Amino acid sequence: MTPPGKPDTAPPPAARPDLTRRDLLRQGGLAAAGAVVLAGGLELVSRRPSGRAAVATAPGQPARVYTGPYDTREPVSALADITGYNNYYEFGLDKSDPARTAGMLKTRPWTVQIGGLVRKPQTVDIDTLQSWFPLEDRLYRMRCVEGWSLVIPWMGFPLAALLRRIEPTSGAKYVRFVSLADPKQMPGVRDPVLEWPYQEGLRLDEAMNPLALLAVGLDGKVLPNQNGAPLRLVVPWKYGFKNIKAITHIELVAERPKTTWSTATPDEYGFYANVNPAVDHPRWSQATERRIGDLGRRATLPFNGYGEQVSGLYTGLDLRRNF
Ligand code: MTE
Repeated sequence: MTPPGKPDTAPPPAARPDLTRRDLLRQGGLAAAGAVVLAGGLELVSRRPSGRAAVATAPGQPARVYTGPYDTREPVSALADITGYNNYYEFGLDKSDPARTAGMLKTRPWTVQIGGLVRKPQTVDIDTLQSWFPLEDRLYRMRCVEGWSLVIPWMGFPLAALLRRIEPTSGAKYVRFVSLADPKQMPGVRDPVLEWPYQEGLRLDEAMNPLALLAVGLDGKVLPNQNGAPLRLVVPWKYGFKNIKAITHIELVAERPKTTWSTATPDEYGFYANVNPAVDHPRWSQATERRIGDLGRRATLPFNGYGEQVSGLYTGLDLRRNF
């Protein structure tokens, strides 16, 4: 993302100091979410769709194996890259800023307001919310519109499971998401580089796709703040900016909601933002990407390689106009 006057930077990713066990415990309330203390720190317990147990490996390495139906078989990116090379403008514009400064965000207690056109609106504490659903591991590719990508071991629950629980009414056509925007905790919010709070949206049928995840963990541990704790959207067939972090509101609405980047620069960032190597960004090609940690570039795949699961959502839609 390149706001006016801010060139894209690609510094070597800074290593994130690992969260200590005390940091994790301080976040509290995790027992309700199925957390358990293991040798390597506080872990979240997942139910793998395949029913297989996750396998622990050496410290510093991704701790699990990913063999579920939604998991890519590509190698997991280095955790230092996933947690040290971030876009999170509430905490600064450089890729290394969030790892240095997002630790100041207090993610417990945290309330999520879920409402709009639903039969069962909820205002719910994050630990209660995540205790409603079995947590699942998902190894997904993430492709940023800037032309880089990562393979990230998320843990979370399907957005569809939450939507079914709150029962959208027939008038609900879109889901709107809003991030926290607290200038006391988020220094970037004092900078009008974007319109705050950060907002995103999906069509309801996109939100119901089984790939759409609400993440609360990474590599079996509590989600680091720089990756969007305590609750973050993951839609792997779309460009990274759709993956809104630090969610405080989820609202079912009738009209297409306003979204942050397509409001800031509508000719550069669309509402759909499906990964599409055939439609270039006005200032750069989308044909290839740099997988962080690899040399060279690789071809970008339509829908980021998830076409089989999602292309049916867009039948009859002109994906050049609806970019
Ligand atoms: N969510 C909020 N609230 N603020 C942001 O600046 N950046 C987006 C997205 N979610 C952003 C956000 C962008 S541009 C990307 S590429 C991804 O988060 C990056 O996610 P990651 O840092 O976990 O890799």
